[in-house]
Amino acid sequence: MKDKIESIKKDIEQYSGSSAEAVEDFRVKFISKKSVINDLFEDFKKLSVEDKKEFGKTLNDLKTLAKEKLVSLSSGSIKNNTKNNTIDFSLPAEDDSVGSLHPLRIVRNNIIKIFRDIGFSIEDGPEIEEDWYNFTALNFPENHPAREMQDTFFISKDPDTVLRTHTSNVQIRLMEKQEPPMRVVIPGRVYRNETVSAKSHCFFHQVEGLYVDKNVSFKDLKDTLYYFAKEMFGSDTKVRFRPSYFPFTEPSAEMDISWKDGWLEILGSGLVDPNVLENCGIDSKEYSGFAFGMGIERIAMLKYGIDDLRLFSENDKRFLKQFRGVH
Ligand code: DAH
Repeated sequence: MKDKIESIKKDIEQYSGSSAEAVEDFRVKFISKKSVINDLFEDFKKLSVEDKKEFGKTLNDLKTLAKEKLVSLSSGSIKNNTKNNTIDFSLPAEDDSVGSLHPLRIVRNNIIKIFRDIGFSIEDGPEIEEDWYNFTALNFPENHPAREMQDTFFISKDPDTVLRTHTSNVQIRLMEKQEPPMRVVIPGRVYRNETVSAKSHCFFHQVEGLYVDKNVSFKDLKDTLYYFAKEMFGSDTKVRFRPSYFPFTEPSAEMDISWKDGWLEILGSGLVDPNVLENCGIDSKEYSGFAFGMGIERIAMLKYGIDDLRLFSENDKRFLKQFRGVH
């Protein structure tokens, strides 16, 4: 027994080779059920108690030695394969992770949820729009300079068809066909004839809001938008209303939120101008309403510290990957 152990030990120590076949040969010869070491264990069972005491440990040591050698041979084999370019273990694992929501979709969903929780429903409308809905019914008089506020893509002259410059067009479409009360938010894409840069783009996204009922007041507008700002940006957020001008609201206001050391404008709003209600066949003596419109990109930029609008439409995976798991 002693001699056999010694000779196998030597064989193991001297064994060399780093090909996959050599490693497998070693395993069969010294580790497998048919191995010489396994045979020795069979012989061992037949030994006297005395002999068992003598050889037990050496035999176990031999087994351990064989196992350790197999590990070192296999790692040599891996290195060898790497060297020969058969398998490159330094390559990153295949990217099988799931995708992410687009940051604009995340922010849009957040905005919608906040308003849905307080009873607003969701509507949408066309991006290719008639002048009436995009401008005239919203109290933009023809040839009035207010139309210049929004650089427009015209699709045809007669009848005037445009790519909508804002989601406010859907206000008119809804008020024309529905009786108040109505309480809706309208997310969607809008278009402006602007040069693409970090700060402006030829298309972007808005969420419009409209609430029409009896006795809707400026206080209702403020309460709703304060609530929105705190839900969206946190309860410490301070809110400021500044007088502004939009043809379709009177009075009009822009809302700023406290941001870092200053204020940042996030939306336009106001009480729906009685002319607009009347244009849609709603009696402005009986009903009043408020409306607001906010840019989704603007809010996403604030929330995530993004400083270039173009990132939203370039589909750069390195950018998009950062929103994995966010919703
Ligand atoms: N439509 C405006 C824009 O795109 C935003 C806006 C301002 C919408 C005031 C409104 C509002 O509904 O009441 O600049």
